[in-house]
Amino acid sequence: MANINRKYLLDKRPTGMPEDECWKLVEEETVPLKSGEILIQVKFLSIDPYMRGRMNDGVSYAAPAKIGEPMTGETAGTVVESKSDVYKVGDNVCIHKGWQTLIKAKDTDPSIYKVPLSNIPLSAYLGAVGMPGRTAYFGLNKVGKPKKDETVVVSAASGAVGSVVGQLAKMHGCKVVGIAGGPEKCSFVKETLGFDDCVDYKSENFEDALSNACKNGVDIYFENVGGPVTQAVSKLLNDDARVPICGFISQYNEENMIEADTPFKILGKLDKKPEHRFFVVTEWMNEWAEATSILSDHVMNDKIRYEETITDGFENAPQALRDVLTGKNFGKQIIKI
Ligand SMILES: NC(=O)c1ccc[n+]([C@@H]2O[C@H](COP(=O)([O-])OP(=O)(O)OC[C@H]3O[C@@H](n4cnc5c(N)ncnc54)[C@H](OP(=O)(O)O)[C@@H]3O)[C@@H](O)[C@H]2O)c1
Repeated sequence: MANINRKYLLDKRPTGMPEDECWKLVEEETVPLKSGEILIQVKFLSIDPYMRGRMNDGVSYAAPAKIGEPMTGETAGTVVESKSDVYKVGDNVCIHKGWQTLIKAKDTDPSIYKVPLSNIPLSAYLGAVGMPGRTAYFGLNKVGKPKKDETVVVSAASGAVGSVVGQLAKMHGCKVVGIAGGPEKCSFVKETLGFDDCVDYKSENFEDALSNACKNGVDIYFENVGGPVTQAVSKLLNDDARVPICGFISQYNEENMIEADTPFKILGKLDKKPEHRFFVVTEWMNEWAEATSILSDHVMNDKIRYEETITDGFENAPQALRDVLTGKNFGKQIIKI
């Protein structure tokens, strides 16, 4: 039987929210493997906020996705054919080869790695023990540098990165306050993830509630969203505050980034500027294996918990990206193939 790969190609660059017309869904028959190649049946596709930025043609820390090529993305799946000495049929792997359902790859591809055998579900290798988990780990430890008893505020707190940041900060002995959209997410952040508090940025008394939750000010603000949330936190920053800038999702659909309400703009205007910088998880690639192993231990010991939104069907990937950009996802957004 023919092996059919389905893939979403980037077809058009978006203005604002990316609509369906930005992608083209195509099918192709995979060609037989050559020596050193494997065929991966994708089980899960990760949907991440950074994907919106890759759809633009602007200068960024990462090259834009190319028109006519598979939309950028990481997947987790199982090797179903192998002509490789490194990967055998049945191995679970993660690979960064875009929105595709059946991936032919060289076993030397730098983006591929074998998922270790454990009780952790495969989908978590795209979330808490995958790229978002490692982002939380490095951003907090290397840029935030938490100390015991400090107050750490985390935005997008119920999400893939934010949920791990807060739980790691609790392990450092910090007081941790989350910011999330809506009472359901806030109660999950407090009751299930164990943050000290969580404030709903959509509620009318957001600024007062945040200030009440941070009685000793804010020592670390782990920035995920930008816009009015950052404005509110910036008023509470202590003298030695650090702000690891992980992302600013509320502004990703803006057309003019110079005009946008980015954290660089908001923090740059303050009289007393906190130590702040944008970081990318790939800065510490040589430490990824160690971070993954630490995060895996925490997940297996129930010290890191996470939520996932798993949407069935490859054809739902574009809508899932829009959901992430509007907060309809709850925890890590995954597409199940
Ligand atoms: N620098 C890096 O290397 C790196 C790596 C991975 C991710 N990131 C960044 O980390 C951040 C979180 O990513 P994630 O993967 O963990 O996504 P996520 O939190 O799982 O999902 C995105 C969340 O952002 C929140 N959001 C959406 N629009 C918002 C708005 N206008 N205002 C405030 N919040 C909004 C929503 O939560 P609510 O319902 O609570 O609003 C939504 O659920 C993003 O900014 C992403 O770009 C950076």
